[in-house]
Formats: sequence, C-alpha cells, structure tokens
Amino acid sequence: MNTSTPWRGLWRLSLLILALVVSLGLAQTALAQADPGREAAIAVPALDADVWRQVKNGETGPNYRDSRFDSNYNLINASGETWRQLRDRWVSPFGVIVILGMIAVIGLFYLVFGSKKLDEPRTGRKLLRWSLVIRSLHWTVASLFILLALTGLNLAYGKAIFRPLFGDGFWAAMMSGTKLIHNYLGPLFGILLVILLLRLLAHNIPRKHDLAWFAKGGGLIGKGHPDAGFANAGEKLWYWLLATAGIAVIVSGLVLDFPNYGQGRDTMQWANIIHAVGAFGLTAVALGHIYIGTLGTEASFEAMATGYVDESWAKEHHNLWYEDVKDQAVPEEQLAATRPHSRGEEPTPRSG
Ligand code: HEM
Repeated sequence: MNTSTPWRGLWRLSLLILALVVSLGLAQTALAQADPGREAAIAVPALDADVWRQVKNGETGPNYRDSRFDSNYNLINASGETWRQLRDRWVSPFGVIVILGMIAVIGLFYLVFGSKKLDEPRTGRKLLRWSLVIRSLHWTVASLFILLALTGLNLAYGKAIFRPLFGDGFWAAMMSGTKLIHNYLGPLFGILLVILLLRLLAHNIPRKHDLAWFAKGGGLIGKGHPDAGFANAGEKLWYWLLATAGIAVIVSGLVLDFPNYGQGRDTMQWANIIHAVGAFGLTAVALGHIYIGTLGTEASFEAMATGYVDESWAKEHHNLWYEDVKDQAVPEEQLAATRPHSRGEEPTPRSG
C-alpha cells in the first residue's frame, strides 16, 4: 500500500472544508449586499429601536461614546429638530407678517388720516425738550438699531433672497460681513440702550392720565387732545417695550454672541427663538415710532433734531408738561443767537 494515500485524502478533505467555508462567507456577503438592513444588523448587532431611543435621549451606551458630553451634544439632536421646526414654521413667518403688516397698517393709516397737523399756528417761541446728550444718545441708539435690524433681517431671510440672485460666492461674503457687523454692534447697542433707558426713566413712570390717553386713542377718538405729561402714554408704551422686550433681545443676543460660557445647545436654541421673536416685534413697533416721529406728526421731528419744540406743539401734545415749563419759552430769534441749552443742559422742570 502506498503511504502517501491517507495524507492525500486528508489534504483533499482540508481543501473541501476550506472551499465550503469561503463559499459560505461569500454567500453571506452577497446576501448582505442584497439586503442593506441585514448588513447593518450584521455589522452592529445591537442597533435596534431601544438603542436609537437611548441615543436620542442623549444616553451613552456600549456601542457609542459622546466625547463632548459636557456640551449637551447628542448623536441625534432631537431638540435641534424641534428648534428648526419652530423657527421655520412659526418664527420666520411671524417676522414677515409682523413687519410687512406694520408697513401696510402705517400706509393705510397715512392714507386715511394723513399727517397730524398743529391745530394752532406756531407761536415762534421755543421750549427746550431734549438736551444734546439725550439727542446724541437717541440718534446713536437709533442708527445702531437700524443697522442691527437690517443685518438681522439679512441673517434671517437673506439666504432665500440674495443667494439665488447673486450666487454662492457673493452671498457667502455678504453673510460673513453681515454676521460680523451684527455680532459686534449688538453689545454696543445693548450698553447704549440701557444708558438711554436709565436717563429717560423719570419721564416714563405710568400715571393715571395715561389710561385716558389710551381710551382716547391718543387723540384720534373724540374731541380734543388727551392729557399728557413730558411723555405721552404712547411714548411710555414704546419706552417700556424697549425696557422689557429690548432687554430680552439684548440678553438673548449676548447668550448667542458668547457661546464660550458653558451654555448648552438647548439654552442657545431658546435664546435664538426669544431673540428673533423680540427683535422682529421691536422692528415692527420701531417702524410705527419712526412714522409718528417724522411723517405722522407735524413738528415732532424738530424735537429730536434741534432739542426745541414750538409752544403750540407742546400745548397740544404734552399739555401737562407745557403748564410746568411755559415760563421758560424763548423767542426763536433769541435762540438762534445764543442756543444756551443745546450744549447739554437738561430741560426743567418736568411732568410725567
Ligand atoms: C430714524 C428713526 C427714528 C426717528 C426719526 C425717531 C424720532 C424720535 C422723535 C422725534 C422723538 C421725540 C418725540 C417727542 O419729543 O415726544 C423720539 C423719542 C424717542 N425715541 Fe426715537 N426715533 C427713531 C428711532 C428710534 C429707535 C430705533 C429707538 C430705539 C431703539 C428710539 C427710541 C426713542 C426713545 C426711547 C424716545 C423717547 C420717548 C420717551 O420719552 O419715552 N427711536 N424719537
């Protein structure tokens, strides 16, 4: 008997087993390729609904590690999706509706009522209303507000408008500039607005006659002008909107501007919603304020431009304040020659 025969048999058997194992492996791979779900099941055996639920809730497990657990980072940021939907479905449409709506209301109001003219002719005698310091603060805050509103609107809607118009390159450069301006001017606006609000606080304490002012629609309903002190109830409303919503916009803006203080994603998302809703609302009301201060009321703009108002304007729009200060009226010609108060003194006395 040939001794090599058992060895040859053993060798053939090994080859057969090897071929069987290889073909089984290939068959598995082919099967897995034909069915991707099956491949995933083979590659990550425990990837079932429970695991995804854990991932969604931000829990860590044996199959994944969250290297940034300190920052509230989740593999799936479920609250991020909620924020995205809130922003896209509610906040962005709210901004368009409230701002375009306000422009339409102002336009209609102007067409129906026109500009509010003075009832009596001007006397030519002037009263100091705003010092140079307040006027400078007002115009700096107003300019910053307008820049922030324009850049903020660009951040919110620019992608939909300018990207298709000018293409990716221009749009990208424009957005970087916009973000830079918005992020740096925001804190400056915040500081100056707080100073302006503190300087104006005494004028804006609510009084009983403010209710009557609202009841008379600021003079639109019924005859005659409702009582008003240095600031009328409409101005006080604008002031307190700035002191509440304005401060909320500033604080939420700072939360977004300085993400390096450990605030998590949820905090940033809520800050973004508060910031956008508050800023859109304030922009709409600011349009009303700008209209009343320019086209809407004869001689109002002079107050913030020169610091002085005509006696007739003071008597009609701020009768209680007029009673307090009427002795200090100065003829226009004398004022033109000297301009004593416009260098920074405050008008006195005042009535709320
Ligand atoms: C170009 C835009 C603006 C114009 C033409 C304008 C015009 C005026 C005028 C004429 C007054 C004086 C009203 C009076 O003497 O009774 C005034 C007051 C005031 N403005 Fe403006 N303004 C503008 C933008 C802004 C902005 C953007 C803000 C705030 C973010 C602002 C905040 C104020 C405040 C707080 C007062 C004082 C009202 C009070 O005493 O409560 N203004 N503005």
